[in-house]
Amino acid sequence: MRIDIISVLPELMESPFQTSILKRAVEKKLAEIHFHQLRNWANNKHRRVDDEPYGGGAGMVMMVEPLDLCISDLKSQRNYDEIIYLTPDGETLNQKTANALSIKTNLMLICGHYKGIDERVRELHITKEISIGDYVLTGGELAACVLADSVIRLLPGVLNDEQSALTDSFQDDLLSPPIYTRPEEYKGLKVPDVLLSGNFAEIENWRHEQALKITQKKRPDLLF
Ligand code: ADE
Repeated sequence: MRIDIISVLPELMESPFQTSILKRAVEKKLAEIHFHQLRNWANNKHRRVDDEPYGGGAGMVMMVEPLDLCISDLKSQRNYDEIIYLTPDGETLNQKTANALSIKTNLMLICGHYKGIDERVRELHITKEISIGDYVLTGGELAACVLADSVIRLLPGVLNDEQSALTDSFQDDLLSPPIYTRPEEYKGLKVPDVLLSGNFAEIENWRHEQALKITQKKRPDLLF
């Protein structure tokens, strides 16, 4: 998978891809990440990419031309499955969307700043709008990292068996059951007997029951 990320602050996104699992995914060439500094497509003296909103109001707007030129440039080089604008008014990211994006080949992520992007960029290029939650960030960069992380970890070969994505919370619309490691007892708190029983059918049953119980308690909305 190739992910192109357009931003005025690409340096903000460097470390997540240079650390741990994402770094390994990049080194193993399972994921290719390309950052693009939007200012390089600004055809003006000060490489400005924002301007005041028509009609007045607070905040600046990201101009249509630099974004159009940058996106068009990239589009002329390959076909993109999705051109995604990270924005608080997009559809909220969930595991289903991450799963769907993980089988794509080329994704482009657009990070907004200030009040957002000129509406015509959406009309011309954006195929999907994603929010990572009902709160407002200073820009789309951290949201782009969250989205990329949720997608890249699903690519075949990125996680090893112990980290398997198949048993994640949400992967079957249930939260994960409780998990334990050594010691068997800590400050009087014991690991449930069933987990020490060696009876794998019973363990599976118990885990499923616990997952249902926890989902019912913490996120009943997932069950309907
Ligand atoms: N940009 C600013 N806030 C955001 C959010 N919650 N999700 C995605 N992009 C954003």
